[in-house]
Amino acid sequence: MPTEPTVIRRADYTPPDYRVDRIDLHVDIRDGETIVTATLAVVGNPDRAANAPLVLDGQDQTLIYLKMDGEDVPPCRYVVQPERMVVEEVPDRALLEIRTRIHPEKNTALEGLYKSGSMYCTQCEAEGFRRIAYFIDRPDNMALFTTTIEADKASCPVLLSNGNPVGEGDLPDGRHWAKWEDPFRKPAYLFALVAGQLAPVKDSFVTASGRTVDLRIYVEPGNEDKCGHAMESLKKSMRWDEEVFGLEYDLDIFMIVAVGDFNMGAMENKGLNVFNAKYVLAKPDTATDTDYQLIEGIIAHEYFHNWTGNRVTCRDWFQLSLKEGLTVFRDQEFSADMNARSVKRIQDVRGLRAAQFPEDAGPMAHPVRPDSYIEINNFYTATVYEKGAEVVRMYHTLLGAEGFRKGMDLYFQRHDGQAVTCEDFCVAMEDANGVDLTQFRRWYEQAGTPHVTARGHYDAAAKTYTLTIEQTVPPTPGQPEKQPALLPMAMGLVGSVSKADLPLQLDGENAAQGTDRVLRVTETRQSFTFVGVEEAPIPSLFRGFSAPVKLEAGYSADDLTFLMANDSDEFNRWEAGQALARRLMLDMVAARSAGREMAVADSFVDAFRRVLTDEGVDPAFRAQALALPSEGDLGESMATIDVDGIHAAREHLRRVLAERLKPEMTTIYHAMAVRGVQLDGPAIGKRALRNLLLGYLAGLDADGLALAEAQFQSAQVMTDSVAALVCLGDSTDAAGDRALAAFHERWRGNALVMDKWFSIQAMSKRPDTLSRVKALMGDPAFSLKNPNKVRSLLGAFAAGNPTGFHAADGAGYRFIADQVIALDSMNPQVASRLFSPFARWRRFDAARQALLKAEIERVLAAPGLSKDVYEIASKSLAG
Ligand code: TRP
Ligand code: ZN
Repeated sequence: MPTEPTVIRRADYTPPDYRVDRIDLHVDIRDGETIVTATLAVVGNPDRAANAPLVLDGQDQTLIYLKMDGEDVPPCRYVVQPERMVVEEVPDRALLEIRTRIHPEKNTALEGLYKSGSMYCTQCEAEGFRRIAYFIDRPDNMALFTTTIEADKASCPVLLSNGNPVGEGDLPDGRHWAKWEDPFRKPAYLFALVAGQLAPVKDSFVTASGRTVDLRIYVEPGNEDKCGHAMESLKKSMRWDEEVFGLEYDLDIFMIVAVGDFNMGAMENKGLNVFNAKYVLAKPDTATDTDYQLIEGIIAHEYFHNWTGNRVTCRDWFQLSLKEGLTVFRDQEFSADMNARSVKRIQDVRGLRAAQFPEDAGPMAHPVRPDSYIEINNFYTATVYEKGAEVVRMYHTLLGAEGFRKGMDLYFQRHDGQAVTCEDFCVAMEDANGVDLTQFRRWYEQAGTPHVTARGHYDAAAKTYTLTIEQTVPPTPGQPEKQPALLPMAMGLVGSVSKADLPLQLDGENAAQGTDRVLRVTETRQSFTFVGVEEAPIPSLFRGFSAPVKLEAGYSADDLTFLMANDSDEFNRWEAGQALARRLMLDMVAARSAGREMAVADSFVDAFRRVLTDEGVDPAFRAQALALPSEGDLGESMATIDVDGIHAAREHLRRVLAERLKPEMTTIYHAMAVRGVQLDGPAIGKRALRNLLLGYLAGLDADGLALAEAQFQSAQVMTDSVAALVCLGDSTDAAGDRALAAFHERWRGNALVMDKWFSIQAMSKRPDTLSRVKALMGDPAFSLKNPNKVRSLLGAFAAGNPTGFHAADGAGYRFIADQVIALDSMNPQVASRLFSPFARWRRFDAARQALLKAEIERVLAAPGLSKDVYEIASKSLAG
């Protein structure tokens, strides 16, 4: 960076001097340039300083003219800077007309108006609208929008924007126009416009109050047959939000557009959601079960934003979790209601541990409500989204479903149509329930994952059980000292003899209060004494992962095996198994580095066998229980991450389990076969278990590899095809290359399926993966300009292939750093995300630290670096 970029601070928030009350946009799309005419009704804030100028955000636009109240504004009264326009002497009320020229064809950042294939589309969150028109581009400016789009009718027959269509017509020279009016005030980040050749899939929904809403999913012609699942998911979401939160949709039409080039998953623009095609299009032969579940969840997420995000929005970007944490919580609950609740919870916690815990322990650690940023796009993080959802979930746990609903009702009653803060949400929860959540607010203020230790003591004579909980929140950048957090601890005591949950009566209470309750942990060190405890218990703590903490409960291996079998909380049964496996693998890593043999205890194999063969347990749950913690998860528990040791230990354990349990695994593999094409929950669960076992077996011997090859050849759904290809792609046997070639031949015309083909090869355990990844960059289906391609090949290698990326000679680091530099000049958002794995450089051994650091320094020195990558690089080196 030539100059140090500015740091934006939460404490500096001030209300704007002016606001745009209404905007009338005219967007004239032509080949090679687009002319935007924006008419802004500007209103001065009565509290502004007398000489306060009007400051409009704007970037990468060429000004054609500026008029105020019908007159040209003389050049002495305004200046145009690279990121803004400053106009002096603007009265209390003024009508500004601003015409500019922009170039969507040249927009590779995919922010603002850009082209995806032959289609024009927009992405305005967080600060993309300023690349379309000069505007007060901050979320507390909620304006009324009308939009007229003009374009060539043959190449852009479909013209869409937010709200309701209010007019259309033909123009000379084969051109036409359409006008849209959005009756709801919104910040500019929710603006959207789409123009292109699109085919609609049509349906409708009758709301609880009896209004009919037209539903439209617009896709590239030819993809209409892949929208059924997305449409069903949308209708289910609409019904669920009415039933669970009493929230109805508010416009006459709801549209989704699927685009091929998109920086993230999807975007909740008012009435016109824009989606990465990956999260819309699905057929059983092209999409996996996981894809189906992601589509359901993301369709719901964007739809739910209509109330949590759009009707009530954020005052400033520090409040991002107000809408994202809340909406993720809502989509998680929706998916839990539509599918198996505890499996969904397990998946969500796995995700939190894989992405958020490392982030919270690294140089980019930040509170759910950050205090500062350089580039807001870097703060669409696992912390804001997933930890933010855990924070919302804790209100729900503390207040109960009814109390939470009361809080939500009050939140909407007070704040509909406003731009508000996380504090406003918390106050609504407090007021609706008559509670004081002062201490709970620390979850918004403090970064870092709390470490909790628990120790129990049973006094058989007195029949008391004393549980002592200690918590510390680790220091994070800028926050050396921490206060104890309020932890809702859902818990039970499982009798070691009866194997049943015991009645829970705290000392001082006159009766037991059930066998499963939520305790409030508020102190650094705190004891709870239970009375009338008839037998020695094993405690089951933080059931359902009731607080996002790292727990160390001092369990013996026997305790964990006991909980795996007997805990009434399904989540904690899974958790106990993970803890047991984690402990075993960490012991193995330690043994290996001490030059000892990596031993696998028989008791572990036995526990694994019991879960495997327990036909009383749902296959979907068994698949979760038998999947070992990831290499990333194990690394989190080590002071210095031993990349090679972790890989060796995990692979060795997988091999031992497969060796010892080959007959059982093979039998169950066959028993879990699903006939034909079935997409219901039980079929998905069977496939999950079957494919997990295939992974174990294929890694063991030629029999297993033959199973994979047979499955690959006979697969009727993409889930089975991909699972088999993953196994084959890991092997250096000729069968691997045969399968990859066959898959390529069959699917090279389908961009989304080709993404899977790239990812599988990028994550392959083969030793020559890096050179194969480099070669794949030359494949005609690859492009550095398409974020899905970058993520599926380069992102999968950097974040999903620990041995490849962390190769001891630093070749993986060098390669990814080269790509980050190349990508940064085209698309800073995607470059910055690809770069993020480097931020954890201090977690590795000295040799790797030196290699990683050198690459970060090289990236930092690259000329013309974006703010996005600069922020990650500079904070990584500092933190
Ligand atoms: N608000 C979107 C969501 O959570 C995500 C989002 C933010 C986004 N910025 C983006 C999507 C940029 C695409 C591009 O659903
Ligand atoms: Zn969101």
